[in-house]
Amino acid sequence: MKKNSAGFIIAIDGPAGSGKSTTARLVAQRLGFFHLDTGAMYRAITLKIIEAGIRLTNRRQLQQLLDSTQLNLKWENDRLRVLLDKRDVTEAIRQPAVSALVSPVSAIRSVREKLVAEQRRLAAGRNVVCEGRDIGSVVFPHAQLKIYLDCDLKERARRRLAELKGKANLEQVRKNLAERDRIDSHRRHSPLRRARDAILIDTTHLTIEEQVALVCALARRRLADPD
Ligand code: DC
Repeated sequence: MKKNSAGFIIAIDGPAGSGKSTTARLVAQRLGFFHLDTGAMYRAITLKIIEAGIRLTNRRQLQQLLDSTQLNLKWENDRLRVLLDKRDVTEAIRQPAVSALVSPVSAIRSVREKLVAEQRRLAAGRNVVCEGRDIGSVVFPHAQLKIYLDCDLKERARRRLAELKGKANLEQVRKNLAERDRIDSHRRHSPLRRARDAILIDTTHLTIEEQVALVCALARRRLADPD
């Protein structure tokens, strides 16, 4: 397998609610890797678009907004903080208005170009666990380990609802996930898909601990024998 000059990269892709974020965070903690949550970056841009009141069809204003945006991720007390133009938006990017708009925003080519460049910059020279939709296929096609997490839609909705602590109902959450799956999988630029060389893990009947242990074991095997 080709060695990546950026360090050792674990790419985790999959649909919303498949357990990517929790798995990526814990795998990164256990291996001492940097956790790169690319969904959080698409959410931060979406928040900025909502706050600025820009229409997605106004490509000129959108480009200006992208050009003037600074994104950063940093670890603080075992938690990943998302900084948008130096403002901490870690909680704000989880609100339903952002979840509702993030898929259309992430389907726009200029948004993807900006964020893929940022993701490569943030990963440069580091060992990274990077999660998203196009990590193994587009962002880091030479990642040393590629995982594709999948999970039954109903189970994903149940997990998301638990995270939202009752701020929505199961049917609303299921619909939002199904709609995001549809847009993320069918868009023209970098659709969600399993890279040919990604290892498929179905998490429907797995606990978080089982998922994390499995990915760590695969990573340790690859680290010991990169070829
Ligand atoms: O992982 P998440 O649910 O926080 O991601 C939010 C949205 O961002 C998701 O609907 C699709 C988009 N996304 C993407 O297009 N590419 C990525 N690498 C990560 C997320």
